[in-house]
Amino acid sequence: MTAAAKKLDTTGIMEVGIKVRRMDFEFGDAIPDYWYGNDALLTLFLTALSATFPEGEKQFIQSVRNFQEQITDPELRKQIRAFIGQEAHHSKEHDALNDLMKRKGFSVLRIEKRMTKMAQWMRDNWSPERQLANTVCAEHITAIMADFFMTKSPQELEKLHPQVRKIWAWHVIEETEHKAVAFDVYQRTVDDQWLRRSQMALLTALFVLETATSTVQLLRDTDQLTNWKMWLNGTRYFWGRKGMVWKLLPEYLDFYKKDFHPWQHDRLADLETIKQKYLEIGER
Ligand SMILES: [Fe+2]
Ligand SMILES: [Fe+2]
Repeated sequence: MTAAAKKLDTTGIMEVGIKVRRMDFEFGDAIPDYWYGNDALLTLFLTALSATFPEGEKQFIQSVRNFQEQITDPELRKQIRAFIGQEAHHSKEHDALNDLMKRKGFSVLRIEKRMTKMAQWMRDNWSPERQLANTVCAEHITAIMADFFMTKSPQELEKLHPQVRKIWAWHVIEETEHKAVAFDVYQRTVDDQWLRRSQMALLTALFVLETATSTVQLLRDTDQLTNWKMWLNGTRYFWGRKGMVWKLLPEYLDFYKKDFHPWQHDRLADLETIKQKYLEIGER
């Protein structure tokens, strides 16, 4: 039996101990422009993601709140509160990182404005059920990307500038902790598997398009567009035999299974390891 299966409570909710940590990261101007392995493409890929977080996470919170009152299970209700707390703090801290990149002259504001418009469009045009399904899908994409940095390629976190590494390690930890919360709310309220799976196909297309567009837009603020070594390295990073896409594909596809649950990917032991490595001593 896996550690994850052992920690399921009687109502089928994983007891993870989701903790809201109040961070106060400071990102000084001494941080180099390309804080991910001195590589413009990788740095701006993470910057593009960071730029979408404040608005995206606000939308995730709202979509779960819409169904919060329908949940009676006390453990899940507690987890919803922790999920909301964690995501609200992520937005705040990523705002600080986004401000650093704005000060450096990157057009982060353009991405933020686009995200605000997209989120408003979703609220106006999608049912609350579809909005929650979208959050469930986004949380799965976030969880498998977090897993890339936690277990699949942990050396990547080490390539980040120490001051920037802290925010990403913290985000990786918390996204893993709360990866099943929106899913469990969805299963107990909407419970439409076709909607969940079809939304994933749609969100994946949107996510790839949005992230690629934003990364290229940010790269246009640099003199690196014709840096072929950077493009070759980036191609390997995403599409190489040991690249992100191939490493994440099996677990991405698991989401389309009828009986999928996020904790089928048991990461409880890995969570303990990464917490001990990157959070303050005494944190458990
Ligand atoms: Fe988050
Ligand atoms: Fe999340």
